[in-house]
Amino acid sequence: MKLIIAIIQPDKLEEVKEELYKQEVNLITASEVLGHGRQKGVTEIYRGTKETGNLLRKIRLEIAVNENFVEPTINAIIKGAKTGDIGDGKIFVLDLPQCIRIRTGETGGVAIG
Ligand SMILES: Nc1ncnc2c1ncn2[C@@H]1O[C@H](COP(=O)(O)OP(=O)(O)OP(=O)(O)O)[C@@H](O)[C@H]1O
Ligand SMILES: [Mg+2]
Repeated sequence: MKLIIAIIQPDKLEEVKEELYKQEVNLITASEVLGHGRQKGVTEIYRGTKETGNLLRKIRLEIAVNENFVEPTINAIIKGAKTGDIGDGKIFVLDLPQCIRIRTGETGGVAIG
């Protein structure tokens, strides 16, 4: 199992969600966060709302998937979020040792989806 964390532009959330649903990735967590990349937020301000100092509003997605969904999930995020401009975002892929569905006690790959 992997945990895919993506930081994307807020105005790309709907498109990313649509692309994820096309790949039958239906379980996601989204948070509003602040961040900047290597431009330190300076040259990217035209794309977003400046929040505090040089930190810009971003959306953080967390998606836990079985191995066969890793590539489709990454591709869907890229398809929905990419414009080619700076600040399009970044995807981090982490190993995920365990997942537990609280209601049923199911674990691992069964619990994840
Ligand atoms: N190495 C990192 N560690 C933590 N967060 C990061 C990292 N890189 C990017 N981020 C987060 O992702 C957001 C989007 O990053 P961004 O797309 O600007 O990356 P970049 O490396 O600056 O690439 P680009 O040159 O395309 O802008 C940042 O605002 C920040 O919140
Ligand atoms: Mg950047």
